Amino acid sequence: MTSSTPTLTSFQSKPKEQLLKEINELRKVRNAVILAHNYQIPEIQDVADFVGDSLGLSQQAATTKADTIVFCGVHFMAETAAILSPSKRVLIPDLDAGCSLAASIDIEQLREWKREHPNAIVVSYVNTTAEIKAESDYCCTSGNALKIVQSIPADQEILFLPDQFLGSWVQKMTGRKNMHIWMGECHVHSAVQPQEIDQKIKEHPEAELLIHPECGCLTPYLDRVARAGTGDQLKVASTEGMIQRATNSSAKKFVVATEIGILHRLKKENPEKEFLPINQEMSCMYMKMITLEKLHRSLVEDVFEVTVAEDIAQKARKSIERMISIY
Ligand code: 13P
Ligand code: SF4
Repeated sequence: MTSSTPTLTSFQSKPKEQLLKEINELRKVRNAVILAHNYQIPEIQDVADFVGDSLGLSQQAATTKADTIVFCGVHFMAETAAILSPSKRVLIPDLDAGCSLAASIDIEQLREWKREHPNAIVVSYVNTTAEIKAESDYCCTSGNALKIVQSIPADQEILFLPDQFLGSWVQKMTGRKNMHIWMGECHVHSAVQPQEIDQKIKEHPEAELLIHPECGCLTPYLDRVARAGTGDQLKVASTEGMIQRATNSSAKKFVVATEIGILHRLKKENPEKEFLPINQEMSCMYMKMITLEKLHRSLVEDVFEVTVAEDIAQKARKSIERMISIY
């Protein structure tokens, strides 16, 4: 990332309708596909060709026929797209859109951890830099972390990084003892308190509770989650898993414990259902850096390109492809 992202000038003042019209023209001229994460602001989600979770977005990036991918998400997601589509131009509308979780481990720390456990298999959550992915055996997302860990022989030691809460949930669900977990966290998800869940359950006993596995509040509920059958009102899911659950469940009301950007899609796709955030403050400042004005500039000026050095990309691609082949 860089702090030298130029400031917006001439494009800022255009009315929304004009911006949308020009975005639609430019995406054709550039043969560009616009990918947006479920946490993006509503205007970005609405203009995107595909909206999804990290797994869905990586799959789209791997298969798209477009020449340019404009990634409306955070930097590690654009890097993942660049790794999977080396012949395409990958743009991010704001280079400063980072991720506190991805920043919670650096390459030296991982190398040191590997030296301490020389026989371990490294499973890295997708919220990591390309360099970390390149030093890993498997990549995983919140949508497939369980399956990836389950696919590794039971007697094989694992280093799981960087999210401690996702790691604890996977460990609980798999019953795996030989899994070491890095103590990283996302500042948005780790801030939710278990008392907030207790309170919401009390206030809305009929509602289903959808919890992202990065949430700090999940830990006291792990026993219940591990015992839960399909009828349990408490569900742990990736953002895309939440969208699917909300659509397929007979419940009419949902409490949602993840970043509030997802509420737009949940409501849009299920207008007859009610969605309540666990906490209105759950907003990721990095995801919110992407605006229509910046997307527009990205297409006009063909900026900001995200690239990954070929030697790193080659190794990182192996860990991501291993993941995609299992899922
Ligand atoms: P998902 O893969 O579940 O969309 O999560 C990505 C993320 O950054 C969560 O904070
Ligand atoms: Fe990263 Fe957390 Fe933002 Fe997701 S919500 S992109 S994990 S900082």
